[in-house]
Amino acid sequence: MIDQTALPTTLRYVRYATADGVAGAIKTMVIRGAPAIGVAAAMGVALAAVGSDARTKEELMEDLSHAAEILRSTRPTAVNLFWGVDRILSKARSADSVQEATRAVVDEVKRMEDEDVETNRRLGAVGAGLLEDGDTVLTQCNAGALATVGYGTALGVVRAAKERGKSVTVLVPETRPALQGSRLTAFELATDGIDCRIIPDTAVGYMMAQKRADKVIVGADRITADGFVFNKIGTYQEAVLAHRHDIPFYPAAPHSTFDLTRSHLEVTIEERGFEEVVSVRGRRIAPKGVPVSNPAFDATPPGLVTAIVTDRGLVRRPIAKNIARVIS
Ligand code: MRU
Repeated sequence: MIDQTALPTTLRYVRYATADGVAGAIKTMVIRGAPAIGVAAAMGVALAAVGSDARTKEELMEDLSHAAEILRSTRPTAVNLFWGVDRILSKARSADSVQEATRAVVDEVKRMEDEDVETNRRLGAVGAGLLEDGDTVLTQCNAGALATVGYGTALGVVRAAKERGKSVTVLVPETRPALQGSRLTAFELATDGIDCRIIPDTAVGYMMAQKRADKVIVGADRITADGFVFNKIGTYQEAVLAHRHDIPFYPAAPHSTFDLTRSHLEVTIEERGFEEVVSVRGRRIAPKGVPVSNPAFDATPPGLVTAIVTDRGLVRRPIAKNIARVIS
């Protein structure tokens, strides 16, 4: 995988051969983005199968459950991670022998890899019709090729619109504190020759008031049955401001991001370490000893959502009611 902590200055590929290694990469955000960590976690479980010396199916399942537990404990908010782990475990469970299970999980994880790109392309095709030639799209964080196996979700919509001949510019908030916007989104858009402009997170309201954003398209880490969209911190304030300025707000997410078993009250928002906030790329920018809060995600209520772009079609208002119809 690409080491996303080194971007944009260094494009470095890293390899992992164990579930522990993959879990470490997810926790430290070497790999990040909901669909990407879903497939990576699934690969982590598959690596545990390949590396296991179990002689019986029961012993193998014990090894896989142990790996699954480590992977599940890395990051709590993106549901794709749990979806990926569970999909591999259930594949292994339904096999009759150690050899059959190992082969089946390796095949399954390769299928998931291919499916992710296909799903994003489908989602992009659904969303492309929402954009007009000349639109400026505000996003948040990185919901692009780097956050998925390829193509991207929110940025997949932009890519699809471009492929259909529309000219689109992306406004990219830096996305403090980990800077996924300025480091990653700007990197992948510039690499692909898609127009973009970095703005400070604090400029979002001003840009909207100045009519310099036509639409908001963001990714999602989990969308609950009651229509709440969990995504990178800062998404909620974009949604509130978009509502204030009459700008359509579209989350874009594959069906694996929907959690139809929970309400928004049951979701854990990851709280990350204070170091990310008080220092930038290793340099301290705040006094020592002052307490810090660092929530990594927020929840946008369905009342602020214009429609959700998914690989299974558009979820229109009323969002909560239509999620069940489009996704299940
Ligand atoms: O903390 P991160 O970088 O993993 O957060 C990523 C996001 O919030 C993305 O917007 C989300 O995962 C959607 S990615 C297609």
